[in-house]
Amino acid sequence: MKIAIDGPAASGKTSLGQALARQFNLRFVETGKMYRAVALAFDRGIKLSDIDIQVTRNGRFLLNGQDTTSELHTQEMDQKSSQVATLPDVRARMVELQRKIADRHDVVMEGRDIGTVVLPDADVKIFLSATAHERARRRIEQRRCGDLEQVEQELMVRDKRDSERAVAPLKPATDATIIETDQKPLKEVISEASNLVRDRLDDVVWAAENRD
Ligand code: C5P
Repeated sequence: MKIAIDGPAASGKTSLGQALARQFNLRFVETGKMYRAVALAFDRGIKLSDIDIQVTRNGRFLLNGQDTTSELHTQEMDQKSSQVATLPDVRARMVELQRKIADRHDVVMEGRDIGTVVLPDADVKIFLSATAHERARRRIEQRRCGDLEQVEQELMVRDKRDSERAVAPLKPATDATIIETDQKPLKEVISEASNLVRDRLDDVVWAAENRD
């Protein structure tokens, strides 16, 4: 089972991904943290060819053996990660790594290009959307700091860069189910997504039973 979740910054991908991973016993992979780890590595003067990123079973991110998870989710890395994510050679390395993980495990993987580029044959593809205002509100709640207007502005800068880059821009796959989350409690989003996964599992079982 491969589940792809894409969407703009702070659209709820992580909360949904964690819930689906628990419910269906899948490995959860936050690919944004990989781009954040690359940005951190560049800040430390490490070249792309010398970067080694390991994702542990419990979702820790090791950069060249060092656990950097707690340094990845800062305002500075929000912007720097989206800048390094425009670089084709960085993307090629990350996609290769992400596909290797998905080859070895059943996964729910979240990012910007999972349904379009990384796992085009994913069993279920979900694209989450919400207004920048609502996403800024959630981000402030999550990080417990920030000015609403400034955070909203920063999210829009990042969304624009992510959507307009030449390689693997942020966009829904043509076969993705788009879930609008603005007016929806998380519980309802999880329930809609779980139904999609269950339907897909039913199809797989039915196909297996009716082979030949
Ligand atoms: O999801 P998160 O906010 O942690 O992602 C950080 C940045 O990494 C995004 O703004 C985006 O530029 C980049 N990213 C990407 N492709 C992915 C995941 C993240 O370009 N699959």
